[in-house]
Amino acid sequence: MTDHTPDRVLIFDTTLRDGEQSPGATMSQSEKLEIALLLDEMGVDIIEAGFPIASEGDFEAVSAIAKVAKSAVICGLARANMKDIDRCWEAVRHSPRPRIHTFIGTSPLHREITKLDPEAMLAVIHDTVTHARNLTDNVQWSAMDAIRTERDYLCRVVETAIRAGASTINIPDTVGYTLPEESAAIIRMLLEKVPDADKVIFATHCHNDLGMATANALAAVGAGARQIECTINGLGERAGNTALEEVVMALKVRRDLMPFITGIDTTKIMNLSRRVAQVSGFPVQFNKAVVGKNAFLHESGIHQDGVLKNVETFEIMRPADIGITETNIAMGKHSGRAALRAKLSDLGFDLADNQLGDVFVRFKALADRKKEVYDDDLIALMSDTATNTDSDYLQVKWLRVICGSEGQSAELKLLVDGVEHYADTSGDGPVDAAFRAVDALYPHKARLQLYQVHAVTEGTDAQATVSVRMEEDGRIVTGSAADTDTILASVKAYVGALNRLRLRREKTAPDADRKTVFMTTPS
Ligand code: KIV
Ligand code: ZN
Repeated sequence: MTDHTPDRVLIFDTTLRDGEQSPGATMSQSEKLEIALLLDEMGVDIIEAGFPIASEGDFEAVSAIAKVAKSAVICGLARANMKDIDRCWEAVRHSPRPRIHTFIGTSPLHREITKLDPEAMLAVIHDTVTHARNLTDNVQWSAMDAIRTERDYLCRVVETAIRAGASTINIPDTVGYTLPEESAAIIRMLLEKVPDADKVIFATHCHNDLGMATANALAAVGAGARQIECTINGLGERAGNTALEEVVMALKVRRDLMPFITGIDTTKIMNLSRRVAQVSGFPVQFNKAVVGKNAFLHESGIHQDGVLKNVETFEIMRPADIGITETNIAMGKHSGRAALRAKLSDLGFDLADNQLGDVFVRFKALADRKKEVYDDDLIALMSDTATNTDSDYLQVKWLRVICGSEGQSAELKLLVDGVEHYADTSGDGPVDAAFRAVDALYPHKARLQLYQVHAVTEGTDAQATVSVRMEEDGRIVTGSAADTDTILASVKAYVGALNRLRLRREKTAPDADRKTVFMTTPS
């Protein structure tokens, strides 16, 4: 251990903004609110709650979060123009600790798109940061594509933003291009060369296109950055953003080399990871660092033997450090409410009495069909309960499928806005027949891009989790569901995706348009 007093590194979570920009990761307002409250409880310093001008839905979500979050700073994103900044302020001002985050692309490629020469861009930065600063003293400014910006010019834009009153300066690696040494060198250079650089907080915002987002963020911290921008599970555009759980645990495990602390209660990580996977429809890969299903599994004999003798042989952190306390003792149809509540709490799901009642009914139904209900079964059941609810516009009421060598057909009763409709269709296989029945009752233009089935546990009575991805006019949505009946899970996942699509249509711009919002010339 070093003698240094650990420095505080701020954790800025952008799951609800950059994370939600992943095609298909749309979350509803209530889901965003739930995630924001969990982030707040976990000790995240700043929550980037959305991009208020992007749509009415984003605006409402940011305002709602600003009204309820207890301790985190609530931040909204705005391009470098007065309209964006005013709209952002309208949404975040409800928070006791609001922040406006405004940005502009500073690299030659972005200057070309915005048709601003270097001097004109400096003027835009000065004017927009000054405008934001007149609304609040907590202004963050980002040089989008900072890594590919000429170094001298980067110093000038940062100096301009500091002079205009920004208190946090973010240096994004927008396209995930940098390497750790370069990431550190840029922060070091800015701290050395820019006047008053020591009066502001430098932030690092890395994307994972080359798999280096965590390494690059930590290198920036080593060089003097004191805010890490990240997302749960590394969710984000393309290959994603720096994963919160990775940087936080790296700082915790390697405090000997990096004497920094965060305010994160790491025991809340696993629960948040599961919830974000559920609501975004982006499952966590099995071998994902820290939160993957296999992250604490020891398969080989040598590893198992070593871990049994001394866990430190093959484990650098304990499962309990991130909130995994389950013993994986199976539950069954004789297990009662109290046992279910205790088991779910171990898994990170703390339920109110009315929620427990609903989950208990579903648990009993599952235990009737499946002899032993394992932890993974309960996680799948919780995910299904959270994603497919009784208030959904479309709900599967009843399904009968005939399959085999004589042909395949499906009969379906579907609730559409509370009204029951019936269809009887045939198709190429039982899943196709069942999806056609849904299409007959709820016609749409969406195209199925992905259909995936996973067995949750072993055995022929295992639950299946089904994920689907659909696309309509550039809008991408996902759906997922779990059931011991694979076809029923498939139809529920398909219907879930259509419910999300409906929600997505209500937001004004399709995904394609939403991206161009970032490129538009500031006004
Ligand atoms: O990656 C990026 O540059 C961003 C900015 C908007 C901060 O997300
Ligand atoms: Zn980003």
